[in-house]
Amino acid sequence: MLHCSGCHGRDGGGSAVGRVPPFAGVVGRFAREPQGRRYLVLVPGVANSGLSDSDTARVLNYVVEAWGAGAPRAAYTAAEVNAIRTSRVDDIVALRRKIVGDLARRGIRVSY
Ligand code: HEC
Repeated sequence: MLHCSGCHGRDGGGSAVGRVPPFAGVVGRFAREPQGRRYLVLVPGVANSGLSDSDTARVLNYVVEAWGAGAPRAAYTAAEVNAIRTSRVDDIVALRRKIVGDLARRGIRVSY
Protein backbone atom coordinates (compact mmCIF):
# COMPACT_ATOMS: atom_id res chain seq x y z
CA MET A 1 0.00 0.00 0.00
CA LEU A 2 2.69 2.50 0.97
CA HIS A 3 5.34 1.74 -1.61
CA CYS A 4 3.50 0.52 -4.67
CA SER A 5 -0.20 1.27 -4.77
CA GLY A 6 0.23 5.00 -5.41
CA CYS A 7 1.27 4.12 -8.95
CA HIS A 8 -0.03 0.58 -9.43
CA GLY A 9 -3.38 1.02 -7.72
CA ARG A 10 -4.86 -1.09 -4.94
CA ASP A 11 -6.18 -3.47 -7.59
CA GLY A 12 -2.86 -3.78 -9.46
CA GLY A 13 -4.53 -2.34 -12.53
CA GLY A 14 -1.96 0.38 -13.07
CA SER A 15 -2.78 3.70 -14.66
CA ALA A 16 -3.07 4.63 -18.31
CA VAL A 17 -2.28 8.26 -17.49
CA GLY A 18 0.99 7.43 -15.71
CA ARG A 19 1.78 4.63 -18.20
CA VAL A 20 1.85 2.15 -15.32
CA PRO A 21 1.15 -1.33 -16.69
CA PRO A 22 -1.34 -3.70 -15.08
CA PHE A 23 0.17 -6.71 -13.27
CA ALA A 24 -2.34 -9.26 -14.55
CA GLY A 25 -1.20 -11.23 -17.59
CA VAL A 26 2.47 -10.37 -17.04
CA VAL A 27 3.86 -11.03 -13.59
CA GLY A 28 2.93 -14.72 -13.52
CA ARG A 29 4.63 -15.38 -16.83
CA PHE A 30 7.74 -13.48 -15.81
CA ALA A 31 7.95 -15.12 -12.39
CA ARG A 32 8.60 -18.57 -13.83
CA GLU A 33 11.59 -17.51 -15.98
CA PRO A 34 15.03 -16.70 -14.53
CA GLN A 35 15.31 -13.55 -16.70
CA GLY A 36 11.77 -12.54 -15.80
CA ARG A 37 12.41 -13.04 -12.10
CA ARG A 38 15.46 -10.85 -12.44
CA TYR A 39 13.47 -8.17 -14.27
CA LEU A 40 10.80 -8.03 -11.55
CA VAL A 41 13.47 -7.27 -8.94
CA LEU A 42 15.32 -4.70 -11.09
CA VAL A 43 12.34 -2.74 -12.43
CA PRO A 44 12.84 0.81 -11.07
CA GLY A 45 9.80 0.98 -8.75
CA VAL A 46 11.00 -2.17 -7.00
CA ALA A 47 14.74 -1.53 -7.14
CA ASN A 48 14.35 2.01 -5.77
CA SER A 49 11.66 1.27 -3.18
CA GLY A 50 14.05 1.36 -0.25
CA LEU A 51 12.58 -1.93 0.99
CA SER A 52 14.88 -4.54 2.50
CA ASP A 53 15.67 -7.71 0.57
CA SER A 54 13.23 -9.71 2.66
CA ASP A 55 10.41 -7.14 2.39
CA THR A 56 11.03 -6.96 -1.37
CA ALA A 57 10.77 -10.75 -1.57
CA ARG A 58 7.52 -10.62 0.39
CA VAL A 59 5.92 -7.88 -1.71
CA LEU A 60 6.93 -9.60 -4.98
CA ASN A 61 5.54 -12.89 -3.69
CA TYR A 62 2.30 -11.07 -2.89
CA VAL A 63 2.15 -9.51 -6.38
CA VAL A 64 2.81 -12.86 -8.09
CA GLU A 65 0.34 -14.64 -5.83
CA ALA A 66 -2.39 -12.05 -6.36
CA TRP A 67 -2.00 -11.34 -10.10
CA GLY A 68 0.09 -14.18 -11.49
CA ALA A 69 -2.72 -16.60 -12.23
CA GLY A 70 -1.26 -20.02 -12.85
CA ALA A 71 2.31 -19.19 -11.95
CA PRO A 72 4.06 -21.97 -10.08
CA ARG A 73 4.67 -21.02 -6.48
CA ALA A 74 8.42 -20.49 -6.63
CA ALA A 75 8.62 -17.88 -3.93
CA TYR A 76 11.30 -15.22 -3.92
CA THR A 77 13.66 -15.38 -0.99
CA ALA A 78 15.68 -12.54 0.51
CA ALA A 79 18.83 -14.31 -0.75
CA GLU A 80 17.54 -14.40 -4.34
CA VAL A 81 16.59 -10.71 -4.20
CA ASN A 82 19.98 -9.83 -2.77
CA ALA A 83 21.84 -11.79 -5.46
CA ILE A 84 19.85 -10.11 -8.22
CA ARG A 85 20.31 -6.66 -6.73
CA THR A 86 24.06 -6.96 -6.81
CA SER A 87 23.81 -7.34 -10.60
CA ARG A 88 23.20 -4.38 -12.88
CA VAL A 89 21.07 -3.93 -15.94
CA ASP A 90 21.97 -1.22 -18.45
CA ASP A 91 18.63 -1.03 -20.22
CA ILE A 92 15.59 -2.34 -18.35
CA VAL A 93 13.29 -1.67 -21.33
CA ALA A 94 15.51 -3.75 -23.61
CA LEU A 95 15.59 -6.53 -21.01
CA ARG A 96 11.79 -6.57 -20.87
CA ARG A 97 11.56 -6.64 -24.67
CA LYS A 98 13.99 -9.57 -24.81
CA ILE A 99 12.03 -11.56 -22.21
CA VAL A 100 8.72 -10.93 -23.99
CA GLY A 101 10.34 -12.04 -27.29
CA ASP A 102 11.82 -15.18 -25.74
CA LEU A 103 8.46 -16.09 -24.22
CA ALA A 104 6.64 -15.43 -27.51
CA ARG A 105 8.98 -17.77 -29.39
CA ARG A 106 7.91 -20.50 -26.97
CA GLY A 107 4.24 -19.67 -27.49
CA ILE A 108 3.79 -17.85 -24.19
CA ARG A 109 1.98 -14.60 -24.76
CA VAL A 110 2.36 -11.63 -22.43
CA SER A 111 -0.68 -9.37 -22.47
CA TYR A 112 1.22 -6.27 -23.61
C1 HEC B 1 6.38 6.11 -9.09
C2 HEC B 1 5.46 5.11 -9.59
C3 HEC B 1 5.74 3.66 -9.26
C4 HEC B 1 5.96 3.08 -8.03
C5 HEC B 1 5.99 3.77 -6.66
C6 HEC B 1 6.15 1.68 -8.26
N1 HEC B 1 6.04 1.39 -9.59
FE1 HEC B 1 6.15 -0.42 -10.45
N2 HEC B 1 6.10 0.42 -12.29
C7 HEC B 1 5.86 1.75 -12.55
C8 HEC B 1 5.95 1.99 -13.99
C9 HEC B 1 5.76 3.33 -14.68
C10 HEC B 1 6.26 0.74 -14.56
C11 HEC B 1 6.51 0.43 -16.06
C12 HEC B 1 7.96 0.23 -16.29
C13 HEC B 1 8.72 1.46 -16.01
O1 HEC B 1 8.47 2.49 -16.65
O2 HEC B 1 9.55 1.43 -15.09
C14 HEC B 1 6.32 -0.21 -13.47
C15 HEC B 1 6.59 -1.55 -13.63
C16 HEC B 1 6.49 -2.50 -12.63
C17 HEC B 1 6.54 -3.92 -12.82
C18 HEC B 1 6.77 -4.62 -14.15
C19 HEC B 1 5.48 -4.64 -14.92
C20 HEC B 1 5.73 -4.93 -16.38
O3 HEC B 1 4.80 -5.38 -17.04
O4 HEC B 1 6.84 -4.71 -16.89
C21 HEC B 1 6.40 -4.50 -11.61
C22 HEC B 1 6.36 -5.99 -11.30
C23 HEC B 1 6.27 -3.44 -10.65
N3 HEC B 1 6.33 -2.24 -11.30
C24 HEC B 1 6.13 -3.64 -9.30
C25 HEC B 1 6.19 -2.61 -8.36
C26 HEC B 1 6.22 -2.83 -6.93
C27 HEC B 1 6.14 -4.20 -6.27
C28 HEC B 1 6.32 -1.60 -6.36
C29 HEC B 1 6.45 -1.29 -4.89
C30 HEC B 1 7.62 -1.86 -4.21
C31 HEC B 1 6.33 -0.61 -7.44
N4 HEC B 1 6.27 -1.27 -8.62
C32 HEC B 1 6.39 0.75 -7.25
C33 HEC B 1 5.61 2.71 -11.60
C34 HEC B 1 5.79 2.57 -10.24
